[in-house]
Amino acid sequence: MTLSLNKDKIRFLLLEGVHDNALKVLNEAGYTNIEYIKTALDEDELIEKIKDAHFVGIRSRTQLTAKVLESADKLIAIGCFCIGTNQVDLQTALRLGIPVFNAPYSNTRSVAELVLAETIMLMRGIPEKNAVVHRGGWNKSAKNSYEVRGKTMGIVGYGSIGSQLSVLAESLGMKVIYHDVMTKLPLGNAMQVGSLDELLAKADVVTLHVPDLPSTRGMMTKQEFNQMKNGAFFINAARGGCVVIEDLADALSSGKLLGAAIDVFPKEPKSADEEFSSPLRAFDNVILTPHVGGSTQEAQANIGLEVAEKFVKYSDQGDTTSAVNFPNVSIPFTEGTHRLLHIHRNVPGVLSQINASFADAGINIMAQSLMTRDDVGYLMMDVDDNDSAQAMKRLRAVPETLRVRVLF
Ligand code: NAI
Repeated sequence: MTLSLNKDKIRFLLLEGVHDNALKVLNEAGYTNIEYIKTALDEDELIEKIKDAHFVGIRSRTQLTAKVLESADKLIAIGCFCIGTNQVDLQTALRLGIPVFNAPYSNTRSVAELVLAETIMLMRGIPEKNAVVHRGGWNKSAKNSYEVRGKTMGIVGYGSIGSQLSVLAESLGMKVIYHDVMTKLPLGNAMQVGSLDELLAKADVVTLHVPDLPSTRGMMTKQEFNQMKNGAFFINAARGGCVVIEDLADALSSGKLLGAAIDVFPKEPKSADEEFSSPLRAFDNVILTPHVGGSTQEAQANIGLEVAEKFVKYSDQGDTTSAVNFPNVSIPFTEGTHRLLHIHRNVPGVLSQINASFADAGINIMAQSLMTRDDVGYLMMDVDDNDSAQAMKRLRAVPETLRVRVLF
């Protein structure tokens, strides 16, 4: 159980050389007790270092296994300074009352820019021309070489990336149509179409920006490629599993599609030492990139800001908005109150037990919000600052309690 600590006692362990924007954000918020390490640590070193840490920041190489987390007695929160969170045992973190944050939207612009550039390159036939010139050839023909102005981009999935791309594509004079399972507000002059079929039939270039879900896995097969316009282009920088690669290869071989740009694959090499194998390697008119849609310096800088800001909001206000494994709770801060944070095992009756106990002691609750997720509940309460010591005592007495903090 944790009481409110002075900021200089709150210890941050930042590993894998996370972007120094993170240090700036933490320092500006008054957190200076930071150990910054440029590499990942092996398990034994990690267990030793994490023992004293209240917050740990990692990228993709640090494995926060159940064994590591169980040895991290003081740990309050985990920040993944990246997009993926599968290097963390999320269920164990939840069970221990530790929220995990990441930066899902820091590289939105980077992906949108790459897709826009690929659209131009594909419509000019540049991938193939580039390959021919590299081999000493010289094909100056304008055949199958088009401006993007006036062409139709079909965006599948109009979320953060899809909608950003829509604005950029329109600025080049493209028409934008999109398909989404939700009704989405169109930006600029973009238009939502009623179905994927309609989009496939109308677009000169189709680009996927959907999440990895059972419903999106294998969404582009032979049948969908056949529905596309003759001589259209296809781009996937979403998730590899969305496309049946053999069917895409057939559509390229037959000349149904004039080209494609693929950044994500059903099976990607785990390291630079492993060979990338795919039927798409055979095609000069396909741009192949090694899952770098979101990999830019700017994205890294944004990640540093985004995750560090989430650390500060959780440390200062208990705010868990957008935690990936944890109940998301946020309430505005009110002057003259102390905030109590109570993480507990999610069984019926905890809230009524706490409210009855507070009522007995004459403690008035000024704001209260509870969310649960799987086996864990997270309760945030604001009480008069004169009542917080008594309230903390009563919270600690609740048998289902995992952690308690008071913020003032
Ligand atoms: P987002 O969650 O903001 O948007 C996804 C959109 O797809 C939502 O509007 C959702 O309603 C829609 N959608 C879901 N199922 C659909 C379906 N069956 N048909 C049509 N629309 C559907 O996601 P965001 O941030 O725009 O990311 C999109 C994709 O890009 C994700 O798969 C993400 O993993 C991937 N990505 C790839 C990167 C790379 O390096 N290549 C970097 C960043 C993200």
